[in-house]
Amino acid sequence: MTFSISFAKQPQNDADTVVIGIFEGLELSKAATALNSTQNDCVQKCLTSHPNFKGKSGETLSLAHCEKGHSHIVLLGLGKKDKLNNIAFETIGGKLWVALQKAGSQKINIHADGIEDIKDTSTAEIAAHIAMGLKLKSYKFRKYKTEKEEDKKVEIEKITIITDAHSAADNLYNTYGAIAEGVFLARDLVNEPPNTLHPESYAERIKNELKPLGVDVEILDEKQMLKMGFGALLAVGQGSIRESKLVIMKWNGNGKIKKNAKAPIAFVGKGVTFDTGGISLKPGPGMDLMKMDMGGSAAVVGLMKAIATRKANANVIGIVGLVENMPSDRAYRPGDIVTSLSGKTIEVLNTDAEGRLVLADALTYLQNTYKPDVIIDLATLTGAIMVALGFEYCGTFANDDDLWSQLKEASDNTGEKFWRMPLDAAYSKEMESEVADLKNLGSAYGGACTAAGFLGHFINEDTKWAHIDIAGTAWWKTDKATTPKGGTGFPVRTLNDLVEKHFEKK
Ligand code: BES
Ligand code: ZN
Ligand code: ZN
Repeated sequence: MTFSISFAKQPQNDADTVVIGIFEGLELSKAATALNSTQNDCVQKCLTSHPNFKGKSGETLSLAHCEKGHSHIVLLGLGKKDKLNNIAFETIGGKLWVALQKAGSQKINIHADGIEDIKDTSTAEIAAHIAMGLKLKSYKFRKYKTEKEEDKKVEIEKITIITDAHSAADNLYNTYGAIAEGVFLARDLVNEPPNTLHPESYAERIKNELKPLGVDVEILDEKQMLKMGFGALLAVGQGSIRESKLVIMKWNGNGKIKKNAKAPIAFVGKGVTFDTGGISLKPGPGMDLMKMDMGGSAAVVGLMKAIATRKANANVIGIVGLVENMPSDRAYRPGDIVTSLSGKTIEVLNTDAEGRLVLADALTYLQNTYKPDVIIDLATLTGAIMVALGFEYCGTFANDDDLWSQLKEASDNTGEKFWRMPLDAAYSKEMESEVADLKNLGSAYGGACTAAGFLGHFINEDTKWAHIDIAGTAWWKTDKATTPKGGTGFPVRTLNDLVEKHFEKK
């Protein structure tokens, strides 16, 4: 069941629930003051009789003592005024979604008109970011539940956010909604089980999702890649019954940019639809989670959907390498030496360090074919990045300080946390082999850094490049404010922001 979010100057008459903001310290918002004075001090009485409610960000309290009206009134904590910003309003929206769902609300008026004088955040932004928080938190992956939830529970149907700046909020939310679509696609792809999402079905899915939006989608199959020399990527996929694929997505700036103009920026994603480890088999417990090993590719596909849906005036390329890493009699082995598309030979010491082999060939193909100025690759590449940063931050390796600053700024705008990690010649050196040019395994230490060092061998010297290891952030085992547990869609929003701020013609 879907629900609608809209913005209006006047409250809707059919609402069963009305939401009114209270700042921390129990300062009433304008809407709360108005209600209080027309309805016999009801807000103040309720606050006095419920001393546990402090107005902290996202706290909610049902309003008792209300004499008139039949709506359920919810007091919503906004936190401290000086701490409020776009991200805080999204968090509030996410927490409000949970409270409204629990309460069984269906038609809801949210008074954003009473929330004013927030530093650096306009009235329209307040409303649109509350809406974005609600929307992001509303995501569910219920495709494989045979009992439909709408059969047993009432659902939120209609949310109206009351604001004087309703048309400006509507404009903003148009764009945010497009971004949310991209995030949701990335989440859907990561949540999809590996028996239905394998390289062949995934490539088709990308075509079906993006072509109708005007994205040019090209799919290279195994035969084509074999002819061209994708020896590293194909080695990873050779143990699987499913054909490996390389999918190239091109968005050409809403027709405002010359069709063949060079794309300044390109994104590359690791799309291992299931990572068993191959012959270097992973342990059984938790292996099911390795369906998320295509999280980097999902972020790229989700990003392409976001920028195409909002018709971004930018030229952007996305490339994903889709393989399934399986053990079988045809599988590649530890000890194999493969020749990558770049011509560099790689000694395979562990078939579970497969992502870097896939990325190596995808990166080479990208640079040979399109010569972008900036490349960003995304991958659930190493367990080591989770040892270093846990689940909160992704690890970002950048060979250019400006590119890092741009990414950091975009990350600050969205709240998706990025941490810079070191690229260093010593890590690259560690990946040199005695018998081949490179090896795919470093020592037991600094595994995320040596993986990045390995990738660096496939980046042209003059190309600005960032490698983002999202092993800890592509999948969350617990709910977060605006992200339900499961596939997160991280960092579609940050990449979208980067494109918007730095690669788009205004
Ligand atoms: N897909 C894994 C990394 C991973 C681990 C992603 C946990 C998400 C959650 C990757 O292919 C892998 O297995 N890496 C190995 C590399 C090692 C063999 C050098 C690892 O991190 O253990
Ligand atoms: Zn692996
Ligand atoms: Zn992997």
